[in-house]
Amino acid sequence: MSAAAKRLELCNTGDVAPGAALKVEIGGLTLAVFNVGGKFYVTDDQCTHGPGSLSEGYVDDDVVECNFHNGQFNIRSGEVVSPPCMVPVRTYPATVVDGKITIEI
Ligand code: FES
Repeated sequence: MSAAAKRLELCNTGDVAPGAALKVEIGGLTLAVFNVGGKFYVTDDQCTHGPGSLSEGYVDDDVVECNFHNGQFNIRSGEVVSPPCMVPVRTYPATVVDGKITIEI
């Protein structure tokens, strides 16, 4: 870890059940934490298409569907799966440290 990088603790692993998502506000970011089959993924919470909150969307395996206009993103890569979304959502590599889900920014 470089000296400039900062590790943020988002939540405990037990806070996000498999197939679920949790909204976390930290360090000026609003993030969505997903549990896909026991692996954790972090994206920006806000849909790139509008005001939808991805942590409040519908999760199906590794795809999240925005509850606003039903656009879909791949949770692992952030890539658009289904319109009307056009722009990928930002993802943050997640690491579990001592039972906490963390990202480096
Ligand atoms: S705000 Fe998410 S699909 Fe439109």
